[in-house]
Amino acid sequence: MRTDNALQNAPRTVRLADYQPPAYWVDQVHLTVQIFDDATWVDAVLTMRPNSAYDQPQPLELYGVDLTVESLEVDGASMTPSWDGETVRLAPVDKATFEVRSRVRIDPVNNTSLEGLYRSGGMYCTQCEAEGFRKITLFPDRPDVLAVFTTRIEAPETYTRLLSNGNPVASGKMDNNRHFAEWHDPFPKPSYLFALVAGDLEVTTDQFETRSGRVIDLALYTEAHNQHKTRFALEALKRSMRWDEHVFGREYDLELFMIVAVDHFNMGAMENKGLNIFNSACVLADEASTTDKGFETIEAIVAHEYFHNWSGNRVTCRDWFQLSLKEGFTVFRDAEFTADMHARAVKRMDDVTLLLTQQFAEDAGPMAHPIRPDNYIEINNFYTLTVYEKGQEVVRMLHTLLGPERFRQGSDLYFSRFDGQAVTTEDFVACMAEVSGIDLTQFERWYNQAGTPRVDVTGEYNETEQQYTLRFAQSCPPTPGQPSKQPFHIPIKLGLIGRASGVPQTFSTDHPGFDQDTGVFSLRDDEDVLVLSGVGESVVPSLLRDFSAPVVCEFPYTADELRLLITSDDNSLNRWRAMQALGTRTLVALAQDAPTGTTLEGMLTEAMAGVLRDNLLDPAVKARLLALPAQAYVAEQYEPVDPVSLNATHKGLQQRLASALLADWQAVYDATSSNEAYVFNHNQAARRALHVQALSYLVVATPEGWQYARDLLQSADNMTEKSAALAVWADVANADWEQAMVDFYQVWQHDAQVVEKWLAIKAAAPSMRVPDIQSLIEHEAFSWTNPNRIRSVLGGFVMRNPEGFHADGDAGYRFLADTILKLDSLNPQIAARLCVPFTQWRRYVGRIQADMQRELSRILAAEGLSDGVYEVVSKSLGDDDA
Ligand code: PHE
Ligand code: ZN
Repeated sequence: MRTDNALQNAPRTVRLADYQPPAYWVDQVHLTVQIFDDATWVDAVLTMRPNSAYDQPQPLELYGVDLTVESLEVDGASMTPSWDGETVRLAPVDKATFEVRSRVRIDPVNNTSLEGLYRSGGMYCTQCEAEGFRKITLFPDRPDVLAVFTTRIEAPETYTRLLSNGNPVASGKMDNNRHFAEWHDPFPKPSYLFALVAGDLEVTTDQFETRSGRVIDLALYTEAHNQHKTRFALEALKRSMRWDEHVFGREYDLELFMIVAVDHFNMGAMENKGLNIFNSACVLADEASTTDKGFETIEAIVAHEYFHNWSGNRVTCRDWFQLSLKEGFTVFRDAEFTADMHARAVKRMDDVTLLLTQQFAEDAGPMAHPIRPDNYIEINNFYTLTVYEKGQEVVRMLHTLLGPERFRQGSDLYFSRFDGQAVTTEDFVACMAEVSGIDLTQFERWYNQAGTPRVDVTGEYNETEQQYTLRFAQSCPPTPGQPSKQPFHIPIKLGLIGRASGVPQTFSTDHPGFDQDTGVFSLRDDEDVLVLSGVGESVVPSLLRDFSAPVVCEFPYTADELRLLITSDDNSLNRWRAMQALGTRTLVALAQDAPTGTTLEGMLTEAMAGVLRDNLLDPAVKARLLALPAQAYVAEQYEPVDPVSLNATHKGLQQRLASALLADWQAVYDATSSNEAYVFNHNQAARRALHVQALSYLVVATPEGWQYARDLLQSADNMTEKSAALAVWADVANADWEQAMVDFYQVWQHDAQVVEKWLAIKAAAPSMRVPDIQSLIEHEAFSWTNPNRIRSVLGGFVMRNPEGFHADGDAGYRFLADTILKLDSLNPQIAARLCVPFTQWRRYVGRIQADMQRELSRILAAEGLSDGVYEVVSKSLGDDDA
């Protein structure tokens, strides 16, 4: 925490260029954690030795935050070190090995930051990534220090379960109704993977037999009232374990794998070695209360955390600049898993949507950073869509360039060469280069340069030569600290569709950058020309198939050419992208009152009719083809944006498409209703996705449309349809909707996950204004110390309710700023995340710009601002030259 004046004394920027290897290693850690009602005591014994890479003895640095240090000894000698509240500096220790002993007191009960050891409801749990371990004990808390941990937990017997990483080695009774448990984790690990849990928990168990025949015990711990929601995650875990063996050759290494569900958690889940800790919302599920999307997300997060056991834990990050090393790779792995479990094309559409609607905006804004950043003030601000989702895309490009076999060889090499080490993104790329012989030097710019590259393409058909010539030009806009960029190595997967026949055309080329087997063209220069021969008819190019690179790819398609791709492209992702492009063009034209608006709308209507009547399409694909592009994405296409009028344009178009095609929406809606009992599987989920997509149009098609939502709410046996019905009905909210919301809450008030959904639907209802949100905050379901509740209400209102948030002048912005300031003293990580909507302030029309800028300045002037909020706000205002 900073107590100085924000403007005079900015917090320290940490730079990749300043990286130094640790001066000392820790071989063993013995922790004793004594939990008492009023305080917790932590005794640590560290067996340390100097790093021989230094030939002079170096000062010994330990980190500690919010600790009361009772004692500190180096080899039995008591120390009174200098401590700035974060770093303890001790004199160099010139010994081959030595012991550091400390005893500290901490206060988990009042720890609302949810970092370190804290209480969530009735249980104690930890969160150490990125730098939370220093809130538990004094330690060289950095990811390149790997140690073997032995942990003893002592607590009152009311905390029936005492858990930590690794294998249980001892447990027993103590005096005063206390007991203990000891755990040993044989795998050396960085402190960010440490975990501890103490609580009165129920356990659901299972087993998994690995491919080498070892039987692993699986255990999912929850509070008693949640035990009926554990089955799905355990099944998902077993599917993940099997898949990682088959696809990546990775087997689990400990005898036991535990998951604990906790209600108060800043993120989705955490991959602590052998003891994953999950946000309840990301693990608990049952058929009555969980949506299809919820099941898919839970399965993906269970897989993600499990996959980290290799990509993250066995091979970890040298420093936090390398975060994408584990996150980009692991997101790629979980996306491949989901694609294999469900529908590959659909998963890709959902991931591309996230990238286009949010990551591109981040990469174009004041917080833009490379997937491997080179500086930060608060590392918690860098758990971003860029590091995760663009990070995935970069790994995916490697997969595209190498092909699956060579990618697997590269991955095998990486895991075997670096097992037990803390490494860098270069180490990862080097393995991929080594196995493939591909020169990836230029490719590495994806790790160092921020911003979304843009590729402009034009095409020309020469009938006499039967040649189609594509001309490419790439560029990348400046980003903070990077005024100009060097060209990227961009894999562009492409095909050609016959203009007259609608049939994919074959072709050949002698361009060395084109891979005939995969159809991938490697664009490496600022400009390039690709001549395709043997092209029998005039064609429309299908570019960036499967979204083969995270770029904006522009080709001057006419609306008719987009229509051809929508009906005839044999790459289903590009059919969808063509539909989105037509929708986006229409919305941008309408939002800007361009004369082409009406014509485009007519073509979009016809294209939608075609999709609606196409009975060969997978209903899940069809549902996505029928979705209008998100407002957030459309808002990235022009400036300045008036979100209120964009919202009105979007809703107006949706409403006209609804009434123009009423009979078709009705037909699709009827065809997708069913009495089948609810099961979460692809076919059912696809049908429901299309059903509720049709519903969203039907409710706005006519004044009585809301009755469809009311009826579905009553008849549905599942949360997918119930929650969708409530959400779309909110768009035309009336007294019946208000009553339905009250009734729904009555039924579900004891189910935390459903209540969170209910809060989000309520906050996103267009009728809500700031005073309504203020009363929602007074509701018993809201809590300032529960991030899920905050995300539901604030996220719903600020991100998904343009009508409410931007109404009444600056009321929404003042409210958001007040909320950020209030939360900053409780939970700075969540406060900093709430600043994100303000980062886009320069893109809005003048009035909004001025109002948001004023609120940002007001936040920055506040006393005692956290580093996290300071960083986002100061960078947004452009007051920071970092
Ligand atoms: N490492 C976690 C994941 O992506 C995310 C996380 C980061 C959780 C920081 C908590 C704190 O799997
Ligand atoms: Zn992760």
